[in-house]
Amino acid sequence: MKEKILDLIKSSGDEYISGQYISEKLGVSRTAIWKYINALKEDGYIIESISKRGYKLLSSPDVLTFKEVKEYLHTKYIGNKIIHFHSIDSTNKKAKELASLGEDNGTVIISEEQIGGKGRLGRSWISPKYKGIWLSIILTPDIEPLEVPKTTQIAAAAVCSALREMDVEGFIKWPNDIIVESKKVCGILTEMSGELNRVNYVVVGIGINANLDIEDFSENIKNTATSLKIQLNKNICRKTLTARVLNNFEELYDDFLSKGDISKSLDICRKYSIVLDREVRIINRNEEYIAKAVDIDDQGRLIIENKDGNIYPIISGEISIRGLNGYI
Ligand code: BTN
Repeated sequence: MKEKILDLIKSSGDEYISGQYISEKLGVSRTAIWKYINALKEDGYIIESISKRGYKLLSSPDVLTFKEVKEYLHTKYIGNKIIHFHSIDSTNKKAKELASLGEDNGTVIISEEQIGGKGRLGRSWISPKYKGIWLSIILTPDIEPLEVPKTTQIAAAAVCSALREMDVEGFIKWPNDIIVESKKVCGILTEMSGELNRVNYVVVGIGINANLDIEDFSENIKNTATSLKIQLNKNICRKTLTARVLNNFEELYDDFLSKGDISKSLDICRKYSIVLDREVRIINRNEEYIAKAVDIDDQGRLIIENKDGNIYPIISGEISIRGLNGYI
């Protein structure tokens, strides 16, 4: 009911909407409406109430609930359902739990804060409250397990495109980092459950450092990580960016499912790649070597040329890539 009341107040825009109208329309008492309005105020909505005129929404909280994101969403199924938390250990962990219980394809888990955010290679992911976009998309594709890493590239292309739609010059550091001004603003962690030839579900976790301040980053990552706010000197609208990421993701993911290849995503990954045509340090467990990144092949693998002139693909698995003199 709270949601329905909010919908009505939102739809009346700058006009006041009377308690009587809401009461008749939704079949609830004026006292109940008053209680729901108070609950909305506790959620951070600023609602003006004037006797004999009614209610008017002055501002909405900056939260990533379905209610707040949906007006910017143009998707058919990605984000049709957003399960929102104010705090959680990890959205990927929650998404995996829910997916194993049969949660729908396209459901998105979003939390305002993660207290056990997970990064790649067993690292942790700093996720302070209301400052970033910490979300996981549940997918149940009918694809081979070997194809699952392609969803990471689709997500990277989606985030990069979303940023560019908002005039932010994002680049992709193969396979899963988004870079702005040579520092990381977003990471992607794709996890899956499946058997040898069958995928049960895929969870694509996306973490975007939207409005973090410099003190939010620990000393050991300050040189390599940043936020959009720090780089652009202004707050980013998290709702719009979230919706744009999901809009782009669905478009690119659908293209993959219908055509069976990720050429559309790869065009974006190649165009905005920060590693192609550069010498990079490749770190694979204990082994580290320098090679030139020459291409991304149709499978989404990075093609490198080593110092002996041998050209071969590497897959993302356990690999980290660095620039010769630092992060990139
Ligand atoms: C990386 O190491 O670059 C990947 C970081 C992925 C972080 C996101 S935040 C939302 C989702 N939930 C998690 O616990 N991790 C991913």
